[in-house]
Amino acid sequence: MVVKVAINGYGTIGKRVADAVDAQDDMEIVGVTKTRPAFGCDLAVRKGYPIYCTYDEPDKINAFAAAGYDCHGGLSDLLNVADIVIDCSPGKVGASNLAKYKSASIKWIFQGGEKHATTGMSYTSSANHSANLNAEGTRVVSCNTTGLSRTLVPLYHHCGSLSVECTMIRRAADPGDSSKGPINAIKPVLKVPSHHGPDVMTVKPEISINSMAVAVPTTIMHVHVIVAQLPDGHNLTTESIIDMWSQEPRIILMSGAETGITTTAEVMEYARDIGRKWGDLHEIFVWRDGVKLEGNTLYYFQAIHQESDVIPENIDAIRALMGVEDDWRASVAKTDDAIARYNNIL
Ligand SMILES: NC(=O)c1ccc[n+]([C@@H]2O[C@H](COP(=O)([O-])OP(=O)(O)OC[C@H]3O[C@@H](n4cnc5c(N)ncnc54)[C@H](OP(=O)(O)O)[C@@H]3O)[C@@H](O)[C@H]2O)c1
Repeated sequence: MVVKVAINGYGTIGKRVADAVDAQDDMEIVGVTKTRPAFGCDLAVRKGYPIYCTYDEPDKINAFAAAGYDCHGGLSDLLNVADIVIDCSPGKVGASNLAKYKSASIKWIFQGGEKHATTGMSYTSSANHSANLNAEGTRVVSCNTTGLSRTLVPLYHHCGSLSVECTMIRRAADPGDSSKGPINAIKPVLKVPSHHGPDVMTVKPEISINSMAVAVPTTIMHVHVIVAQLPDGHNLTTESIIDMWSQEPRIILMSGAETGITTTAEVMEYARDIGRKWGDLHEIFVWRDGVKLEGNTLYYFQAIHQESDVIPENIDAIRALMGVEDDWRASVAKTDDAIARYNNIL
């Protein structure tokens, strides 16, 4: 079976999910939406993805032809030819699309900018793939929550309980954003705790976790400062935790002292070196020499490439919802292998 995938919202996340879908042999892109014939349409044309209008009004659809783009119809037309839609519209906008997806009788995946309550289901590959099997719809959690899940879920599985406090040092804007900030300040998120940590509990309720967040003037990555309390009798050491993570997918562990990769700037340079499109890094980056277990308290830092860590997760979520792969590790291996081939970086 080849799953027919629609992308509603062809922006930062949408264009990346589209290429990751295109890389897989068990799914294909049947169309992407744009609100108007502007920036982004040329990329879709170059990739050969059919363009649809975000809206169904004839005047909005006709505007594409007037600008020289072949527009195949409105969102309703796209939903009619798809098995599943990946909603990559701006945060908080997606929820208003839900009624359209339901009336088109197709499956849907939202992104982390929507609330868990919109779907009642959330997703990360390692935490709850099986709970999402054959579900009507789900939400791939945010980049930060995905990153926390990557390292905390295997730790939880080893320990059987986990209590976590973390501070999210957030990038102020994506590199392509010109309207966000701060550019000259450190901005605490005054809603305490921040949503990031507690959001992990939407995919792994057994992990007790809270977070605080600050936004800083950078565009390239988030950094997490994590303190986890392990239960008595955990039997772990700093080295065995590093070892455990090195055997898990989508985690990169490197020593800052040995590699010279000591800041997010060098992490992103490394990502550009390995050759993924847009300089993406789907993996979570953990500094080996920043990991320390003292008694029952584990301290570590990790860096998150906000524009791309959720991309492979969306592919695994498609397989879960469509019921085509019930083993999360098999899906992760297939997804990552196809993305690597697509990028020519095997
Ligand atoms: N960027 C990140 O770092 C990041 C990371 C993880 C998760 N997310 C989440 O992913 C989602 C998308 O974020 P993004 O960063 O990709 O946003 P984005 O770059 O602003 O892209 C959103 C796209 O949605 C389109 N759009 C606008 N209104 C729409 C509507 N009513 N229906 C469908 N599409 C509409 C816009 O299209 P036009 O260009 O055609 O006007 C725009 O290209 C959000 O939920 C966000 O929270 C973002």
